[in-house]
Amino acid sequence: MINETLDSIFNRKSFRKYSEKTVDDETLQLLIDAAMQAPSAVNRQPWEFVVIKDQEMKEKVAACNPYASFAKNASAIILVCGNMEKALPGPSQIMWVQDCSAASENLLIAAQSLGLGAVWTGVYPSPERMNALEELLNLPENILPLAMIPVGYPESEKSTHKKVNPVTVHYNVW
Ligand SMILES: Cc1cc2nc3c(=O)[nH]c(=O)nc-3n(C[C@H](O)[C@H](O)[C@H](O)COP(=O)(O)O)c2cc1C
Repeated sequence: MINETLDSIFNRKSFRKYSEKTVDDETLQLLIDAAMQAPSAVNRQPWEFVVIKDQEMKEKVAACNPYASFAKNASAIILVCGNMEKALPGPSQIMWVQDCSAASENLLIAAQSLGLGAVWTGVYPSPERMNALEELLNLPENILPLAMIPVGYPESEKSTHKKVNPVTVHYNVW
């Protein structure tokens, strides 16, 4: 019963090595459009995206996460951010994290479906990484960075590791 959507989900994997081929603007936009189709609490859609294509900026952005230095070799880095002015008020504001995470996962699955290589590299909740990006990219105070996602054409094919684990499923009661 595998269709194209499930195929992209089951075959999605992180790519950290990219070829020199450029991902065109139309394709980058398609990835962001897919991200924006994600569900969000009370449909607030509290996301914003920063697309980094300039080589010097990619190097500086990659350096903001010690585990994402490879991002400088991607065709582009898409930074997924939450806009606190669009997020829910009060104690529910933190739901921007789930909302922007859903958007990030949509983006990754869309990338997989298009034969692109991408990987989620974490920013939130690390204060060091968030501060570094806020300063570097001149983010307004209400914009919080969640994840930076380098995108490129994969340098080589990669097999998918199976993660399906029936033991983690509980029925009716634990
Ligand atoms: C919140 C989050 C933070 C992550 N941060 C990093 C990171 O900083 N650097 C990195 O190389 N991968 C990062 N990853 C990717 C994971 O390492 C990867 O998803 C995991 O090893 C499973 O591999 P797969 O994506 O190929 O299934 C992150 C993933 C998530 C969800």
